Amino acid sequence: MKTVTTSARLRKAVKAARREGKTIGFVPTMGFLHAGHMSLVERARRENDLVVVSIFVNPTQFGPNEDYHAYPRDEKRDLAMLEQAGVDIAFLPAADEMYPKGFSTYVLQEGTLTGTLCGRSRPGHFRGVTTIVAKLFNLVRPDQAYFGQKDAQQVAVIRQMVKDLNFDVRIVDCPIVREPDGLALSSRNTYLDPDQRRDARVISQALFEARAAIESGQRDAAAVRELVRSRIASVPSVMIDYVEVVDADDLTPLQRLRGRVMIAVAVKIGRPRLIDNIQLTVQ
Ligand code: PAJ
Repeated sequence: MKTVTTSARLRKAVKAARREGKTIGFVPTMGFLHAGHMSLVERARRENDLVVVSIFVNPTQFGPNEDYHAYPRDEKRDLAMLEQAGVDIAFLPAADEMYPKGFSTYVLQEGTLTGTLCGRSRPGHFRGVTTIVAKLFNLVRPDQAYFGQKDAQQVAVIRQMVKDLNFDVRIVDCPIVREPDGLALSSRNTYLDPDQRRDARVISQALFEARAAIESGQRDAAAVRELVRSRIASVPSVMIDYVEVVDADDLTPLQRLRGRVMIAVAVKIGRPRLIDNIQLTVQ
């Protein structure tokens, strides 16, 4: 595995592969890798000749009171995991490599996809995400890029950006990887103390109960939302940011459940903010 830290070297390494006619798979991450990230890397490995993974804690997608400086980092361990998974190129730029002095062009997506759910609670977040992902796409020029359904809104926003700005890349979305007790894997889970970690189980439990209710015939979105809300509210340490029942593709709120449905949740347990969702197709 080649580890590169500058855009110039990254471009050079990828160019050589492209000249040989290799297909390129790309997995952008912020590091502190876990089995969720690795499921994307493994899929990229199976489907491409060359696999590029970026590790970059992107300052522009964090709000002023968010956890940019506290975000967990373990480069050495991450690189060992990527090497083990057969990754060809790891890209680990410094912040001033991606945002040198004078940087002033951002990619801003307007409209419902960025205006709802996490976009409402984290102003500026998706502007940071679309900006860095656009930059990384321009550097890597991947044939396929891999994203997790854990961040379902991010996938929807990136798909829209790719369409709007004519990026020549196929976006592949991959299922959520969970702990045995249901908690979605996240780099931020490391912030949880043992009590908070136990309480966090209620997030996925509430979502799974909602799925069971839908499978038993519940079609009223407000009832499903209330079921999830009240289940999560039964654990006092878990503060709800939002619980929404939306169309899984355009993220608009639903009244009756039909077609591709997503139930999306964001909570805070102490300082850490956690998100989760389930998606299902309702006849
Ligand atoms: P990060 O949170 O590190 O996540 C990198 C990728 O891993 C994302 O596509 C995310 O959805 C996926 N992922 C995280 N947890 C997962 C899980 N439990 N199961 C499946 N996939 C999971 O998302 C970002 O970084 C950043 O916003 C980024 C796209 C890199 C731009 O900075």
